[in-house]
Amino acid sequence: MKTLVTSSVKKASEFIKRGEVVAFPTETVYGLGADVYNEEAVKKIFYAKMRPPDNPLIVHVHNYSQIESIVKKITPVAEKIIDKFFPGPITIVLKKNDVISEYISGGLDTVAIRLPSLQLTQKFIKECGVPLAAPSANLSGSPSPTSWNHVYFDLNGRIPCILKGPNCKIGLESTVVDCTQKFPVILRPGIISSEELKTIFPDVKIYNPRGYIRPKSPGMKYKHYAPKAKVILINNQVDLEKYNIKFSESAFIGFMKVRNFKKVKRLNDLRDYARSLFDFFRKCDKMKIKTIYCQTVPPEGLGLAIMNRLIKASHNE
Ligand code: TXA
Ligand code: MG
Repeated sequence: MKTLVTSSVKKASEFIKRGEVVAFPTETVYGLGADVYNEEAVKKIFYAKMRPPDNPLIVHVHNYSQIESIVKKITPVAEKIIDKFFPGPITIVLKKNDVISEYISGGLDTVAIRLPSLQLTQKFIKECGVPLAAPSANLSGSPSPTSWNHVYFDLNGRIPCILKGPNCKIGLESTVVDCTQKFPVILRPGIISSEELKTIFPDVKIYNPRGYIRPKSPGMKYKHYAPKAKVILINNQVDLEKYNIKFSESAFIGFMKVRNFKKVKRLNDLRDYARSLFDFFRKCDKMKIKTIYCQTVPPEGLGLAIMNRLIKASHNE
């Protein structure tokens, strides 16, 4: 299959209308979308990504009435999050109605919903005329794509169209929040942090804060966000010195001043870490680097989301 790369929202939306899948940009990472109402189209997402079928998709909408059209009810918790954070890098989980097929929900009775803040994404969903079921637009298991080039590298020849947009400003996937109960539960940490949510919901919970396994968010049980290289987490210079480093085969990402590595990314702040991480992993893989040393950060605010991805990447199961 030939993959068209286009900046035209209109052209890209025509693929969706024909029951095809399209990769599109958002402020977090690129998504691979299909018409929620077209089961055959949704199945193509799993095929293109080689994604396990029990890992549910996020439904991307461009307004409130599209949310109403796919859920049983919008709970008070969800209502508040929509009010304060939509559009933005946050996903709410609610009880689904019959419109949502088991392919989208992964057999659960809930559905994940997000309204991205990138204008281009909103324009695209609007032009499609339907909500779009979409996971991240990478091959299953590899780091999420933060530029259209990343999508092209993974899915060229496997999907018919990429809507070309800017590089992703945030670079980590959205915060996923279960809104089915009286208090919100963070299932996947993201840039909208537990501290920020706490200002509105004093009783917000984080499901499994260390982020190893997450049965309620099935995607978390698979190897994720991982480069081919081995990822080793280090706290500081002293820790780093304990390793018998082969500099010519290794890379470093973090805040410390280090020398000799084949590739180094020195970061300015946590936003920079989030935005750069997946791109760095991919660049290292291209250079056939064997080991990547990643500096840890305190698991607070955006730091929790970064640590969650680093821990996943450092597991070689
Ligand atoms: O920023 C993002 O969220 C990006 C962009 C494209 O919007 N999307 C994304 O999708 O990261 P994906 O499929 O890679 O991750 C979706 C996560 C998975 O961990 C999945 O298990 C969880 O959301 N999820 C989806 N539906 C769920 C549900 N009904 N209940 C609990 N978790 C759910
Ligand atoms: Mg993903």
